[in-house]
Amino acid sequence: MPKPIHLNLFIQSRGHHETSWDHPGADTRSLMDLSYYQDLARRAEAAKFDSIFFADVLMVTNDAAESGRYWPEPITLLAALAASTERIGLIATGSCTYSEPYNLARQFASIDHLSNGRAGWNIVTTWVEAVAANYGTSHTNHGDRYDKGEEFVSTVKDLWDSWADDAMVDDRSGGGVSGDLSRITPINFKGKYYQVAGALNVPRTPQGRPVLVQAGASDRGRDFAAKHAEAIFTAHLEKETAQEFYKDIKARAKDFGRDPSQTVILPGLNPVVGGTEAEAKQNLLDLNSRMDPEVGRRTLSQRFAGHDFSHLDLDEPLKVSDFPDPDKLETMKSRAALIVRIVGNEGLTLRELLARFAGGRGHYTTAGTPEQIADLIEDWCTDGAADGFNVMPPVIPLMMDPFIDEVIPLLQKRGLFRTEYVGVTLRENLGLDRPKSRFFPD
Ligand SMILES: Cc1cc2nc3c(=O)[nH]c(=O)nc-3n(C[C@H](O)[C@H](O)[C@H](O)COP(=O)(O)O)c2cc1C
Repeated sequence: MPKPIHLNLFIQSRGHHETSWDHPGADTRSLMDLSYYQDLARRAEAAKFDSIFFADVLMVTNDAAESGRYWPEPITLLAALAASTERIGLIATGSCTYSEPYNLARQFASIDHLSNGRAGWNIVTTWVEAVAANYGTSHTNHGDRYDKGEEFVSTVKDLWDSWADDAMVDDRSGGGVSGDLSRITPINFKGKYYQVAGALNVPRTPQGRPVLVQAGASDRGRDFAAKHAEAIFTAHLEKETAQEFYKDIKARAKDFGRDPSQTVILPGLNPVVGGTEAEAKQNLLDLNSRMDPEVGRRTLSQRFAGHDFSHLDLDEPLKVSDFPDPDKLETMKSRAALIVRIVGNEGLTLRELLARFAGGRGHYTTAGTPEQIADLIEDWCTDGAADGFNVMPPVIPLMMDPFIDEVIPLLQKRGLFRTEYVGVTLRENLGLDRPKSRFFPD
């Protein structure tokens, strides 16, 4: 029996391609219309995805206006979708840099209760520099963001552990008790960045703790993921770098005293399906031909902390020296390194680079028949590159439907993907243990 794979559906606007917003194959509903997200969540649940996921950026970027990149606040959206679905996991992004542990612990604990154990938190430290101005502060450097994030996550875990599973007695037999105060503890957390005295005001959740998700890829980010994360999103343009990442994260998890099987690694996959390979490749070309390179150039500049690429000719081969050193950036170091790496390896022109990034933003894009895409998924998952995939359809529903209707049934036929949910909670479906409370381990 092959090892079962895991699939997450990453829902972003009308698709991940920057031209999806007005694509004829995209849904026409407003991005603020709940029914759009309900339909997608129910469709993903019927297809037996482990989870759906919503990213978040705490500002209006040029993407918002130019590529239709905006959405309802993701934790609020999860609450609405908890009531519209029964089995699928619900993952939203929450920032350690621009939130308070008590608020965030309470929000995700509540979602976990309201969904009967299906909540997941994508922990981010927020790499976009300009966000700081929306919070009356200045951008924190990369290392300090991770230091603060470490403390934030430890505090949130303690808050989730502050109630024993049996603290709510709810004995209404007459003369009974509501709760057992001896089974609820103040956490008395005193760190460099956070001081939190009390217990959380929400009982321990069905999953014990909501599932922790992260996407760290720099050296610090990998340590952070290996130490805390139970599901890991990651971006790769080549199988080889995915294999190196997979091996490294599992080894680091072991060094932190964790069972490596408790870190489910999910690289991004941008699937463009066609009836034949030629048709799929044409679908991808058609999609990229709609792209406005100037939109891509501005997005590229944001990735490199506002670096000016305006003088570069679209059709000249790029040089590594056209880019700032990714190590010296205080933004998303790993994605910047990935871009510079393919420029060095492949000698792309700026136009080609922007086309590569218009769809997948650095995640793996593949155009092929359903069999070819199923083969790729099987290959990565059996060859030490992935435990499953974070599926990012370029246009929704046009490029999501064939993945659900044609690729998933092939994976099911091969015994690689579930035909029914095995568990009730997201942890159970991802094969993750239910953590014991640090304060009440009995
Ligand atoms: C699939 C995926 C989703 C992400 N979602 C968000 C997000 O919603 N908000 C955010 O600020 N960063 C997001 N990130 C960025 C990561 O949190 C992290 O900053 C990035 O992987 C770079 O980490 P590094 O600085 O350790 O290299 C995402 C990354 C990936 C791969």
